Amino acid sequence: MAITTFDDARAAVRAGTSIDDAAAGLVASMTPEERLWCLDGDQPTWAGLGSLGSGGYHRSPFPAAQVERIGLDGVAFADGPRGCVIGNATAFPVSMARGATWDPDLEERIGDAIGRELRAAGANLTGAVCINVLRHPAWGRAQETYGEDPFLVGELGAALTRGLQGHVLACVKHFACNSMENARFTVDVTVDEVALHEVYLPHFKRIVDEGVASVMSAYNSVNGEWAGQSRALLTDVLRDEWGFEGFVISDWIFGMRDAATSVTAGLDVEMPYRMVRAQHLPDALERGDASWDDVDRSVRRIVATLLRFDEVLSAPASPRSILGAPEHRALAREAAARSVVLLRNESVDGTPVLPLDPSASVAVVGRLADRVNLGDGGSSDVWDLDCHTVLDGLRDAVGTVTHDDGSDPDRAASVAAGADVALVVVGYTFLDEGEYIGSTDPALTKLFPPADDPELVARFEAANAALAPTEQPERIGERPGGFSVGGDRTSLRLLDEDVALIRAVAAANPRTVVAIQAGSAVVMSEWAELVPGIVQPWYGGCQAGPGLADVLVGDVVPSARLPFSVPADESDLPPFDRDATSFTYDRWHGWWHLRRTGTAPAYPFGFGLSYTTFEVPGDDVAVEVASDGPVVVTGTVRNTGDRDGADVVQVYGRLPDTEAPERLLGFARVEVPAGGSVPFRVEVPVDRLATRDPAAHAWAAPKGTYVITVARHAADPAATERRIDLV
Ligand code: BGC
Repeated sequence: MAITTFDDARAAVRAGTSIDDAAAGLVASMTPEERLWCLDGDQPTWAGLGSLGSGGYHRSPFPAAQVERIGLDGVAFADGPRGCVIGNATAFPVSMARGATWDPDLEERIGDAIGRELRAAGANLTGAVCINVLRHPAWGRAQETYGEDPFLVGELGAALTRGLQGHVLACVKHFACNSMENARFTVDVTVDEVALHEVYLPHFKRIVDEGVASVMSAYNSVNGEWAGQSRALLTDVLRDEWGFEGFVISDWIFGMRDAATSVTAGLDVEMPYRMVRAQHLPDALERGDASWDDVDRSVRRIVATLLRFDEVLSAPASPRSILGAPEHRALAREAAARSVVLLRNESVDGTPVLPLDPSASVAVVGRLADRVNLGDGGSSDVWDLDCHTVLDGLRDAVGTVTHDDGSDPDRAASVAAGADVALVVVGYTFLDEGEYIGSTDPALTKLFPPADDPELVARFEAANAALAPTEQPERIGERPGGFSVGGDRTSLRLLDEDVALIRAVAAANPRTVVAIQAGSAVVMSEWAELVPGIVQPWYGGCQAGPGLADVLVGDVVPSARLPFSVPADESDLPPFDRDATSFTYDRWHGWWHLRRTGTAPAYPFGFGLSYTTFEVPGDDVAVEVASDGPVVVTGTVRNTGDRDGADVVQVYGRLPDTEAPERLLGFARVEVPAGGSVPFRVEVPVDRLATRDPAAHAWAAPKGTYVITVARHAADPAATERRIDLV
């Protein structure tokens, strides 16, 4: 049967033709112009950029590879990970907050909700799965990932992918080594094979194994080649070693520079506009710098992926009213509460400062107390119109609330003195951290075409005129200008004004609780001892206030755990240079670096308090190597307090090579009733213990003695150790 339309290809697959053969058949029937058309975004560059700057980013997805003549719908990309960026959607807590839940099931439900909203908004591909490892908390986009540990990041990213891919294609980003923001368009990351495969890539492999449809390359270069045109990453690792079958897209606008090199290296689609390839690929093909086989291979990958996901993408989309639907807002509230990390909860007059008595009077102070603070103002921004601040949340949860914006610390202190408890809301906004587009390197502006094709512009404008209305939230007006301004942090401290406010309020009210809104670690040593209570509620999404209030009054018992270490001092961490032109990534950051240098963290990786207490009795811990392979770790979690709660059991492993960093090998979030005991079981496939052999460019099978530790955080003095021998 001849395959000349997407419908034919679909029918052929139903009749038993392999997806690859059906895709090849369709591609063979396409004209050369159609095949080239599929290799970049469908929109004109200049008109696209103009619309981007005036809110277009939130109004319609970016199309690519749409070929009407043959019924190829192609892709329509919308961003994440905070939610669906098109339309007035639900803003969920940022990914780092969700990382703190250590709960893949919850993350999968969030993925399902975001996926439904994306489809309803007209998208079928999303860049919501951002999983670069947090190498340093100053990274401006820290909030978009899940933490500093590749295993934790991989498990949560895989869960999000599962949830999303019930509705849309997921795209995992940014491949690879994109853990700095201001320098992202220019920095070259040097990384050796061991650090690359053991620290910077395992989570990408995890998402590929989960069946992700698409990968987005990074802006930065890796070992001297731009990630968007790196054969080493895009073909040798992604395709040949991992067997990835989907398609690769570039990061936006400056994600690749050379038409031919990008195609031959394995980058399938240049996003989002007709830009570099549209100008230069035809000539490069003439010259033989790239071949039509290269072109067809990329088109086949797109068509094959659309065929593979045909059932998902052909299923009816939810109505647009699903955007911001009550059930998604309820989930956002659950996630906001479940992500609040309780870091400190000292007693005042014999009683822990938290939970609050709902009949208490609470002074809510600080410039962020009544601010909608969703996080980054760049590509992850969600235009949610129904957001509830901390002040809103507290007003609904406790009897008496007073409020002061904290602009005058003395005035705020006197308001605090008049209340039973003071809650100081401090931290950052999109002005302090987030995506960053600074002045553009002149080498990059040369990539722009001289002009757009007028016919394309006319089509683009007609499509824009037909879009569903999307309302711009008022808070956007607070920006000093530009698409995104935050960038990498210059310090891990709070702003001076926040520190002054904490000091003033703490001196006025012994029951002071500090709530930190931030995307990653904040150094607290200079003020932490002054207050009995500290919580980190992140950028908590549209229900940030109610979710935090649920925890503060004890309706939700805190169960979140830090997805990174909080250092006592910034100098305890490896260096970070936001203006670097080259940088070396090694195996030592976060808790590994602190352990190696013998430095105690202020709060360790995996740490978080509860309103109850837990024990993992050592006598119950067993570690066995099952006959069919995995290492099986079992034991019980005992709730020794008087509230029901959830604990997160963490399994770590020291390798026979004592020079190698210890690894998080598995974890289990366990709900335990007050006074009860609940068993846990963590399975660790042995390949999770493998190490990279740089000479063989392959994984070395694990052999030797491993020390397996069952702990409640990475520096747990009550941890239980067991040894296993692998032969
Ligand atoms: C960001 C990506 C994002 C893309 C499209 C880029 O600037 O780096 O994370 O997916 O824009 O919004």
